[in-house]
Amino acid sequence: MIFSRGWLPGLTACLLSCSPLLTSASSSHKQQCKAIPGTPDWPSPASWKRLNESLAGRLLQPPPPGAVCHPGQPTYDAGECPNLLADWSKLDYHHTNPVSTYWNNWSNDTCLPYPGYPCSGQGYPLFVINATTARHVQLGVRFAKKHNIRLVVKNTGHDFIGRSSAPNSLSIWVHSLKDWKYHGEGFRPKRCKTTLPGTYLTAGSGSQMWDIYTRLDKMNQTIVGGGGKTVALGGYLTGGGHSLLSPYYGMAADHVVEIEAVTPLGEVITANSCQNQDIFWAILGGGGSTFAIPTLFTLKTHPTPRLSHLNILIITPLPNTSSIIFPLQAYITSQFPSLSTSGLSGYAFLLPPSTPFPLFPNITNGIGGFFMSCVVLQSSPSSFPQDILSLWDPVLSHINTTFPLSANNFTTLTIPTSYPSFLAYFAAHHDTTPAGTNILPGGRLLDAPALTRNLTALSETYSSLSRGPQPASSIIAAHLVSGPGVHTHPNRFKTSLLPSWRTSYLHVAIIGGIALTRVVFGESFPPLNETAKSEAYARVLGKDEIIKQLAPDTGAYMNEASPIEEKGWQQRLWGKNYDRLKRIKRTVDPTDVFWCTPCVGNERWKQVGDRLCRV
Ligand SMILES: Cc1cc2nc3c(=O)[nH]c(=O)nc-3n(C[C@H](O)[C@H](O)[C@H](O)COP(=O)(O)OP(=O)(O)OC[C@H]3O[C@@H](n4cnc5c(N)ncnc54)[C@H](O)[C@@H]3O)c2cc1C
Ligand SMILES: *[C@@H]1O[C@H](CO)[C@@H](O)[C@H](O)[C@H]1NC(C)=O
Ligand SMILES: *[C@@H]1O[C@H](CO)[C@@H](O)[C@H](O)[C@H]1NC(C)=O
Ligand SMILES: *[C@@H]1O[C@H](CO)[C@@H](O)[C@H](O)[C@H]1NC(C)=O
Ligand SMILES: *[C@@H]1O[C@H](CO)[C@@H](O)[C@H](O)[C@H]1NC(C)=O
Ligand SMILES: *[C@@H]1O[C@H](CO)[C@@H](O)[C@H](O)[C@H]1NC(C)=O
Ligand SMILES: *[C@@H]1O[C@H](CO)[C@@H](O)[C@H](O)[C@H]1NC(C)=O
Ligand SMILES: *[C@@H]1O[C@H](CO)[C@@H](O)[C@H](O)[C@H]1NC(C)=O
Ligand SMILES: *[C@@H]1O[C@H](CO)[C@@H](O)[C@H](O)[C@H]1NC(C)=O
Ligand SMILES: *[C@@H]1O[C@H](CO)[C@@H](O)[C@H](O)[C@H]1NC(C)=O
Ligand SMILES: *[C@@H]1O[C@H](CO)[C@@H](O)[C@H](O)[C@H]1NC(C)=O
Ligand SMILES: *[C@@H]1O[C@H](CO)[C@@H](O)[C@H](O)[C@H]1NC(C)=O
Repeated sequence: MIFSRGWLPGLTACLLSCSPLLTSASSSHKQQCKAIPGTPDWPSPASWKRLNESLAGRLLQPPPPGAVCHPGQPTYDAGECPNLLADWSKLDYHHTNPVSTYWNNWSNDTCLPYPGYPCSGQGYPLFVINATTARHVQLGVRFAKKHNIRLVVKNTGHDFIGRSSAPNSLSIWVHSLKDWKYHGEGFRPKRCKTTLPGTYLTAGSGSQMWDIYTRLDKMNQTIVGGGGKTVALGGYLTGGGHSLLSPYYGMAADHVVEIEAVTPLGEVITANSCQNQDIFWAILGGGGSTFAIPTLFTLKTHPTPRLSHLNILIITPLPNTSSIIFPLQAYITSQFPSLSTSGLSGYAFLLPPSTPFPLFPNITNGIGGFFMSCVVLQSSPSSFPQDILSLWDPVLSHINTTFPLSANNFTTLTIPTSYPSFLAYFAAHHDTTPAGTNILPGGRLLDAPALTRNLTALSETYSSLSRGPQPASSIIAAHLVSGPGVHTHPNRFKTSLLPSWRTSYLHVAIIGGIALTRVVFGESFPPLNETAKSEAYARVLGKDEIIKQLAPDTGAYMNEASPIEEKGWQQRLWGKNYDRLKRIKRTVDPTDVFWCTPCVGNERWKQVGDRLCRV
């Protein structure tokens, strides 16, 4: 049972390309490939049993979730399959399963819940530790290190770049690390001399946005957190974490003052600005599953703000308004640096001509234009809606004179709403992107020069990006999530995230289509079709290259960037911090217990079929 799936294809692939090395695996100290079932270094059933006992029975051997839809699989269940199919596209499903990921391709499409498709489960981990304590994590890391087993860390499985699943691996599932302690009157990090003023939260790295927002709201507090309800602290904070509140308060990672983590050597450490400073810096922005497995984060909280929200739509029903629509979008986005400095943040969508309008299904005659869901922090209830409308006034009057709306058949709609707390805002506007598809993300950060220096170039960029295979595959998401709070945060040198976050305003993300009136992040492609997959790769590379012309050196947000490892991906994701990050990686993880891609210091290994082997 233990060895029943996955190992044969891997062995075959390795025999084809690394067979001279395989024979030396048992004798050499430095094995050439990570162990897989059937190789001499793979642990015996008795070893797995002892591991399970040391974990008080928390070792799982989960079947692939899609197996319930496949006759012949041990867990086939004709009654359960329709429920799974209904859940597959929901963001709320995948985090409850030990191995499921939100985006199918990262388990290599090896057991989709669709009858008629293959189901081997070969892309999923073989064993999973359902950790609830740092001790469980430690036992898992030590076991993987000792037995040369490929290790992965899964939290919720949201990852856009495929780091939370791998074949022939032991996975440490940190979803149930949910400790919680609120510090209402300051916090003193271990070994630091002074108590930091303010309010803090110590939470398990499996804690998820919606739960944190609702629990903190009872204290009238919130954190700088993300737009997805079920995103967890683990992947979010290690990537840097952008938020609608970032332009005011900084990146999420800037708020962390202490981390408890299990190192690749299997030690439980506390890292902060007074001890283990290097690993503290590396974890905050250097990426998940690379330097350590954080079990607890302590982060600063803020009094929950009142928010003014505005849906602003500039729409046209005309099928071809190219000559106006792209210059209009260029003008509006050129105003983002000053709008951000005045307190605006939000998520904008640039819709080329002939694109059905998403999010507002009642607008049946709107094709193309501009849409933004944006907020400002309200100073008092009476400042609404003037606070947010007056920010837009000069922009809209400029549009009136420069692109006469009536003459060009554009309509402007402004729909303001006021929310008494961040939670109230979030309950109405959280991300509802459907899951369960194959997507490949892409995008880059844009700074003020890229947005303001040359509006002709900006307009031409939007026009070039719109030339996708179908209109809906050419929407651009323009996240206005950076600004003064990120640029000047006092902790900005205590985190390792891409330095250009500190000068950028916009995180531009590629949108691949519209589903169920929602935009779909990234380029999608159908399963098990190599041609379609290569085409998606080509589209992402092509669009990334077009955006890059505007800002050759800013790079991209690692958690939502293209995972394609073309030349220079290390610089694209970490900029000048990369060299120090790699030195820290070599120090804390000399034998590469943690490996993922695209991740810091992964250059010494590559995937060979379903195995991980030395380069
Ligand atoms: C619907 C949706 C909305 C999003 N909104 C935002 C947003 O508003 N802002 C933003 O910045 N990002 C956003 N993201 C991106 C999000 O930050 C990343 O997908 C992130 O990696 C998710 O982290 P996770 O722990 O939930 O997921 P996972 O896929 O489980 O983990 C992601 C990565 O982190 C690692 N990891 C997780 N926990 C740990 C841990 N405890 N120790 C070591 N490694 C760990 C995993 O190994 C993996 O490498 C969004 C994503 C989705 C799908
Ligand atoms: C681990 O032990 C528990 C409790 O004894 C058992 O239910 C579970 O199946 C075991 N896991 C594996 C992988 O054998
Ligand atoms: C799909 O997943 C496989 C296996 O994890 C990986 O090798 C491949 O690069 C992925 N492709 C895309 C387009 O995401
Ligand atoms: C994992 O552990 C949590 C916490 O103990 C428990 O609620 C959950 O049922 C476990 N999941 C599985 C699949 O064993
Ligand atoms: C939260 O704010 C409300 C309204 O201002 C107030 O009535 C309540 O006492 C506050 N709660 C806490 C825990 O401070
Ligand atoms: C739309 O108009 C532009 C010029 O304004 C032209 O280049 C383009 O080919 C037209 N597109 C379509 C689909 O008609
Ligand atoms: C369209 O629907 C939204 C709610 O989804 C509503 O707020 C908006 O006012 C409607 N717009 C029009 C033009 O009816
Ligand atoms: C723009 O012009 C329209 C008339 O075409 C007018 O109703 C509207 O008030 C103007 N808006 C601004 C902000 O000037
Ligand atoms: C806008 O609509 C009016 C009336 O339908 C029409 O006369 C005019 O030519 C249109 N403008 C453009 C730019 O198509
Ligand atoms: C602005 O960009 C356009 C298009 O790329 C280019 O032709 C033009 O020379 C640029 N203008 C300046 C002042 O650089
Ligand atoms: C695979 O994708 C290509 C390109 O999108 C498409 O032309 C082809 O029909 C697809 N093949 C199958 C079997 O669906
Ligand atoms: C993904 O599956 C294909 C077969 O469909 C296999 O050739 C490839 O090695 C697998 N990749 C991984 C990373 O498991």
